[in-house]
Amino acid sequence: MKTKVKPVSPEAIEEAAQLIRAGELVGMPTETVYGLGANALDENAVRKIFEAKGRPGDNPLIVHVSSVEEIPALVREIPAAARKLMDAFWPGPMTLILPKADCIPSAVSAGLDTVGIRLPASEAARALIAAAGRPIAAPSANRSGKPSPTTAQHVFEDMDGRIPMILDGGACEVGVESSVIDATGEVPIILRPGGITPEMVQEVIGRVSVDEHVMSPLSEGDIVRSPGMKYKHYAPKAKTVIFDGAPENVIAAICARYDALIAAGEKPAILGFDEHDFGERTRISLGSVKRPNEAAARLFGALRELDERGETVALCEAVEATGIGLAVMNRMGRAAGFDIERV
Ligand code: TXA
Ligand code: MG
Repeated sequence: MKTKVKPVSPEAIEEAAQLIRAGELVGMPTETVYGLGANALDENAVRKIFEAKGRPGDNPLIVHVSSVEEIPALVREIPAAARKLMDAFWPGPMTLILPKADCIPSAVSAGLDTVGIRLPASEAARALIAAAGRPIAAPSANRSGKPSPTTAQHVFEDMDGRIPMILDGGACEVGVESSVIDATGEVPIILRPGGITPEMVQEVIGRVSVDEHVMSPLSEGDIVRSPGMKYKHYAPKAKTVIFDGAPENVIAAICARYDALIAAGEKPAILGFDEHDFGERTRISLGSVKRPNEAAARLFGALRELDERGETVALCEAVEATGIGLAVMNRMGRAAGFDIERV
């Protein structure tokens, strides 16, 4: 199969919508990361997603809609707290876990009684869903185990020959996947942090809880609220180590480790902030230390770049785990197997 890449235009959206209606897969831009979309109500189309990604069948998919009016048909109930979050943060980088209606195939929900629903902010994504006339199930468009794609080029690297078309909407603005929030009860539980932060949810609902596995690895016997937590996503081939502490300590520790690695014949690279001085050492930028949203937007591209360049060790600067920084630290932490050195 040849994979076409087409910039977003009314014609390209119509072509992609026809593919979705015909049960095919389309790489689609969203404000978070690129998705691998299929008709959410067509079980055969949904199966193709798992095949193209190499995704385990027990990891459920998010269903994307183009307006809130489409939601009552997809869920059994919208609890009051969920309604408030929808009003406050949609369209936007938030997925709500709700009790699923029977029309959602079990392939989508991986046999669970709930379904993740998202109304994306990306206009191209909403236009595609509206043109298809069906909700679109879409996981991130990476092969399983690779960082989520934040450009159409990333999608092409992973999906060339596996899908008929990629809609190119440019680089994703947020750069990390949506916040996944269990909204089935009174207190929302953040299962995966993203652009809608715990602080923002707290502001609207008055209460919020963050799943303990957002910043720690799972051990055997732990209760898994979200199947995605079980899998080691976002792992570059380079061994990844995170340094956390006062900036001057972090910079000194990273430089010392870097030099020791060079002496040992390794090929290290630093994921660091623009304001920090690492001398001539190889550095991939996480943007400004003052704007953690830049680290969010750049992290996945940086992880891909490490592998392309054949770096063997990544030495990463931590960001403060508040606001969007929690999402950055969750993704960085998982890439590093939560190997964080306090300095
Ligand atoms: O930003 C995003 O959310 C992107 C774009 C394309 O919308 N999509 C995305 O999908 O990141 P995916 O499949 O890569 O990640 C979905 C996560 C997984 O960790 C999955 O386990 C969790 O959401 N999830 C989905 N449905 C769930 C459910 N019913 N209960 C608990 N967790 C669920
Ligand atoms: Mg994913």
